[in-house]
Amino acid sequence: MAGEFFGVGVGPGDPDLITLKAIKVLKGVSCIFAASSTKNNYSVALDIVKPHLNTATPIEILSFPMTYNAEKLESSWKENAEKVCKVLAENKNAAFITLGDPLFYSTYIYLVREILKIMPEVKVTTIPGITSFQAAASACNLPLVEGEESIAVASGAKGSKQLRKILSSSENVVLLKVYREIDDIINTLEEENLTEKTHFISKCGMDGEVIIENVRELKGTKPHYLSLMIIKKGPLRGE
Ligand SMILES: C[S@@+](CC[C@H](N)C(=O)[O-])C[C@H]1O[C@@H](n2cnc3c(N)ncnc32)[C@H](O)[C@@H]1O
Repeated sequence: MAGEFFGVGVGPGDPDLITLKAIKVLKGVSCIFAASSTKNNYSVALDIVKPHLNTATPIEILSFPMTYNAEKLESSWKENAEKVCKVLAENKNAAFITLGDPLFYSTYIYLVREILKIMPEVKVTTIPGITSFQAAASACNLPLVEGEESIAVASGAKGSKQLRKILSSSENVVLLKVYREIDDIINTLEEENLTEKTHFISKCGMDGEVIIENVRELKGTKPHYLSLMIIKKGPLRGE
């Protein structure tokens, strides 16, 4: 018998934005896994959920490299999946906590794939979380979509290539991971006359939250990793 594996979304930052179900699951498992970068031992998700945890539950940090090197990534997913499987093989239930939602740009997606390669019999249950962009829209009181509009979500980690494409087909765009290529992204928004239609939100719901409406002022800066943009071609609020 293998233990059950839970992927638990802990929401975007504010510990009050975690679901009752997430807390219930985390209080019931024998081990909690959290991700950190290989550069440190820090897990944002763990920081968010800590006030809700039983102090006696063991917590294990799994490190993942922040890289595009496929070989390094795959070996870290495999190594960390083996660590989780060790616990599940003892018939213990375990949870992996993720920032926001587990199935939305999360390491959980890769980890589960590897776990199921090693132990296909494991029951996997995913507990959804409030995503960063939902919380960001609320923080700005900004409608994400209305009427017959559409919305596209993309990563800005590699600059504005994807942004140009989706702007041609969607009235609303959410761009995550804008921290690396901020100048390129803002140049594109300027070309499309959309800087005044863009909100930038950093560390939403956390200490040091920043909301910027004039995104031009971000040029030449290095935003925090936890930053995103909401771009609306249509009305921003009630105009
Ligand atoms: C690996 S993705 C994680 C997404 C997460 N699973 C979710 O449901 O929102 C990391 C990106 O999410 C965004 N993000 C996550 N939390 C955030 C927050 N509190 N404030 C602003 N952006 C955030 C940033 O764009 C960051 O680069």
